[in-house]
Amino acid sequence: MVSLEPIDLFQGRPAPDLLPTEHLKNAAVKALSDKSVSDPGLGYGPDEGYFPLRQNIASWLSAFYETQQPANAERICITGGASQNLNSILSVFTDPLLTRMVWLVEPTYHLVFRSFEDAGFHGRMRGIPEDEEGMDADALEGALGLFEEGEDSIPDMANKTSIKPHKSYRKIYRHVIYCVPSFSNPSGTTMTTSRRESLVRIARKFDALIVCDDVYDFLNWDLQDVKHTPSSFQRLVDIDRTLDGGPSDYFGNVVSNGTFSKLIGPGCRVGWAEGTVKFAYGLSQAGQNISGGAPCQLMSTFVNELLEGGILEQHIATVLIPHGRRRHLAILAAVKEHLSPLGAMMSSDISTGGTELGGGYCIWLRLPAPLTAAEVCRRASETQNLTLGCGDVFEVPGSRSSEKDLRRSLRLCFMWENEERIVEGVERLAYVVRELLFTSN
Ligand SMILES: Cc1ncc(COP(=O)(O)O)c(C=O)c1O
Repeated sequence: MVSLEPIDLFQGRPAPDLLPTEHLKNAAVKALSDKSVSDPGLGYGPDEGYFPLRQNIASWLSAFYETQQPANAERICITGGASQNLNSILSVFTDPLLTRMVWLVEPTYHLVFRSFEDAGFHGRMRGIPEDEEGMDADALEGALGLFEEGEDSIPDMANKTSIKPHKSYRKIYRHVIYCVPSFSNPSGTTMTTSRRESLVRIARKFDALIVCDDVYDFLNWDLQDVKHTPSSFQRLVDIDRTLDGGPSDYFGNVVSNGTFSKLIGPGCRVGWAEGTVKFAYGLSQAGQNISGGAPCQLMSTFVNELLEGGILEQHIATVLIPHGRRRHLAILAAVKEHLSPLGAMMSSDISTGGTELGGGYCIWLRLPAPLTAAEVCRRASETQNLTLGCGDVFEVPGSRSSEKDLRRSLRLCFMWENEERIVEGVERLAYVVRELLFTSN
């Protein structure tokens, strides 16, 4: 058995030393020391979540995204994080009979599959490939068109109607589209504006709800210039507010699924959803909310303290961005030095307007032929004590997508291990690749 220290480039979570633990402790003490905060914090909260936090999130998002129309608290619903909220979205706005199909960018964040299955969409998820501009809009439109023409539809569903009762606070969408528009997990790809607009138009045309996991947007940096912070992207939810005269109905076609997991810590379990006022209200009417109030009421009061004092913003600017940027640069340099000469290719960094945009948590690496991700991961684990994200994991189950490059691809995360260990991990990976390429057989 190997005696090497374990290195984990699979973990898609922040290293504990990057988290604002001390600030959170102070925020908790402050919130719990003030009866006007702790009393509501310890009680059942409103269905839509802690109002001061909704207000502060709305201002924070409006400033960050420089939205044409500022968000207001009514557009925000507090959630228990992006994962919990995906389940809520599906429980309120989909129906396993009326909602026909779920279309996911492929490769996709693998831990959403179970939520779609739980909501009744087992066997009805389809992968749509992405290129350097993001989810392939033409492929999506083509697949949806084909489906609606009946060539690809589900025979025994033709005459089925809703199994959920009609409620005025919600609408049931016919399709769901899932994507991570900025610094996608696992590919690192950021969608261009024109692609984002195309997706919104497609969603309107086919009565689809686009669920955007906008979980990495705040973690972006310029890879070339340390002093330059790239401007933020237009979220699809903002595009839906203005494109071609605005949303097609009061519910709109996009929900932005945000989270503090990557900014404060995954254990925080607080997030937010933004959509039209009617959508945000509808989301707050999920059974769990009307009984218990929005999730994480007490933690919401702590997070609110961090936002109110600008502490979170400062933490992002002074800790997460500089450390993320350095780790990202370290992994890119190590891959260029040790893996590119062996024929591995990266697709995570894209050029925008003379600056090199970087961000998120991971890079995506294509292995040289004839290696497969599965054999490289196995060998890396057995001989190098190195854990990697095997491309197959990010394949949409049962997808008939022809994009199978992912079986030759790896996801490498750079926010868990420090720079030194990231570089050592890449060196160990290069050792495995070289061994498999040149010494096997
Ligand atoms: C794309 C994406 N969505 C959702 C999550 C999970 O978010 P949360 O911790 O808020 O449930 C992650 C975490 O890795 C992610 O990468």
